[in-house]
Amino acid sequence: MEKNMNALLEQMTLDEKIAQLVQLATFFYKGAAGDGEITGPMADLGIDQDVVINSGSVLGASGANEVRNIQKEHLAENRLGIPLLIMADIVHGFKTIFPVPLAIGCSWDMELAEKSAEIAAKEAAVSGVHVSFAPMVDLVRDPRWGRVMESTGEDPYLNSLFARAFVRGFQGNDLTNDQHRVAACVKHFAAYGAPEGGRDYNTVNMSERQLRESYLPAYKAALDEGCEMVMTAFNTVDGIPATGNKKLMRDLLRDEWGFDGVLISDWGAVKEQIFHGVAADERESALKSIVAGVDIEMMTSCYPKHLKELVESGEVSEEIIDESVLRILALKEKLGLFENPYRGADEELENQVIMSEEHRKASRELAAKSCVLLKNEGVLPLQKEQKVALVGPFAKSGDILGPWSWHGSKEEAVQLHEGFKMKMDATNLTIAEGSDIETVTEEQVQEAMKAAKEADVIVLALGERSSMSGEACCRADIRLPEAQIQLISKLKELQKPMVAVLFNGRPLDLHGVIDQVDAVLEAWYPGTEGGAAVADLLFGDVNPSGKLTMSFPFSVGQIPVYYNSFNTGRPNRPDAPNHYVSKYLDIPNEPLLPFGFGLSYTNFTYSEMTLTQTIITPNEPITVSVKVTNAGDTAGEEIVQLYIHDISGEIVRPLKELKGYSKVWLQPGETKEIFFTITEEQLRYYHSDLQFTSDNGEFHVMIGPNSKELSALTFELAK
Ligand code: BGC
Repeated sequence: MEKNMNALLEQMTLDEKIAQLVQLATFFYKGAAGDGEITGPMADLGIDQDVVINSGSVLGASGANEVRNIQKEHLAENRLGIPLLIMADIVHGFKTIFPVPLAIGCSWDMELAEKSAEIAAKEAAVSGVHVSFAPMVDLVRDPRWGRVMESTGEDPYLNSLFARAFVRGFQGNDLTNDQHRVAACVKHFAAYGAPEGGRDYNTVNMSERQLRESYLPAYKAALDEGCEMVMTAFNTVDGIPATGNKKLMRDLLRDEWGFDGVLISDWGAVKEQIFHGVAADERESALKSIVAGVDIEMMTSCYPKHLKELVESGEVSEEIIDESVLRILALKEKLGLFENPYRGADEELENQVIMSEEHRKASRELAAKSCVLLKNEGVLPLQKEQKVALVGPFAKSGDILGPWSWHGSKEEAVQLHEGFKMKMDATNLTIAEGSDIETVTEEQVQEAMKAAKEADVIVLALGERSSMSGEACCRADIRLPEAQIQLISKLKELQKPMVAVLFNGRPLDLHGVIDQVDAVLEAWYPGTEGGAAVADLLFGDVNPSGKLTMSFPFSVGQIPVYYNSFNTGRPNRPDAPNHYVSKYLDIPNEPLLPFGFGLSYTNFTYSEMTLTQTIITPNEPITVSVKVTNAGDTAGEEIVQLYIHDISGEIVRPLKELKGYSKVWLQPGETKEIFFTITEEQLRYYHSDLQFTSDNGEFHVMIGPNSKELSALTFELAK
């Protein structure tokens, strides 16, 4: 394989090589739907037809027919017959849309997560896609940031497991022969999830130690799973934009981690170094990125305009260009494109596979596992014979797919009222809009009051429009829009049981909602089968089991608030009241709802937590066990969580760190004993010299249903 590619490289001119490093959007290509728009965009970028003819990859093309046409036209003109790589954002489903990743996170279900990526890959591959710009594994702590919904949450351990699961699902084990898989591209390297103030693209400021401890593990996990590509982040990392950051890309990613796959810039990020203020012009931007090790420039033209003169002037060696080209050619080879440039693209299969019954079923199952029951005071599950008023802007809305579902069809999504009609007699159901997302009129309220008057229970379908989350969609006020809170207050006057179902992309400040209603189900953006999955849960056909993987703040003033935080020298201890402690005067320190929290229709009790030994050594792991009982009368699944705290480290340690979990299904009255092994390796962390080691001394091990309600035992590490 290597030999072939080297031979091909030798035949390429420098211009042809550089063009391989260029990625342009679909509309630049002949054969694309609506072609003819080619010259305008080329003039805007300042490139000529040769660059397009020799370019290496396309962004955003899909549809077997379109991709085949683009590839055919391309091969007809490309001198050496080098096929294009087709890349697209297939984030949580292609046409069958799965819940947004933050929701998938709350399922704690690696098998279903993997399955969702496998299905997304299959639908995308038959539509001609070769690479998916996913998984996004940025650790997130700030719900103001619009892109938290693309992440699986605030925990490095869990995010790493999901990173691996998604990569396995997208890529399978044999990309060359399994044409129904796609190459994965983990993003956004690095720390894009930590912008100051929760404002997209903003500065990221953190120590290398913190970067390594919390932010890097999930990217590394994706690469350990064999992820083929990496995408740079828009932000700076220690003062240098990631896209020109040699220390991050060449020294760490390539040399230390040994990544030899393709590194692509995020959209326009090579050129954006000018606006960051680290490059005087496009030429310097190109220089910085290629030296840092960025192979493909996405959607700007610093490489095609300047790399040649940089090579000719001796500022960039041709070997660096060759290495990048070889990496791209190797990926094409691995995907089998030289043998079959059309790979999986198949119109007939598109019709059979996309949105198949099986795919929709998997989406419904994952959606039900991803919703989190946040409150339930005796109202849920609903009884099928009850009279229900379904009120709110999401009662009849297809806007439940989430912001990264550009192939998904809102029209084909199961809306909430349709889900209700699958469960109950339509004559017992009244429906009213109640309000829009951000506005409410007196007529809407009156209509809702009328619909609710005769009902036994009011179900409010509320939330954020999907365009209130996602890229560049940050919010400083993360409460539900005032119009919807007014609607709740008005309906409360009827003094009927009320359930709120929330469709949104971020942990919200739930004041005005959770305090006014009897039950809250967080449904996130649940995807194509959303209405059916939510109805499965509300009517008790499925028992809720999801648990939050991102804290819900008490108020925006606390942010960032996350479970794996540190103590201070002056912790706020209820047992020792003192004014001069770390606290707010007006709000608690704790979030409203902690990481790991989620209710069920049954009640699980924990007992008899036991350690096999109290001394752990590098060669002798210890086992901790606990008995979990289903004390209610409904069968259900509990996510048993294991946390550790290093009481005295060289570096201040988080008060809790998730180190394991177990999903256990229990019949009413049933008890199971759950065992966890703790090894010395799990106690390691980055010290001040950046060495990853452990400290002798005492540790707490904690087990419980969430990061707050925990029982603890103590053990000691003796090396
Ligand atoms: C986003 C990436 C995405 C890329 C290509 C960028 O704006 O940050 O996540 O993969 O566009 O669509």
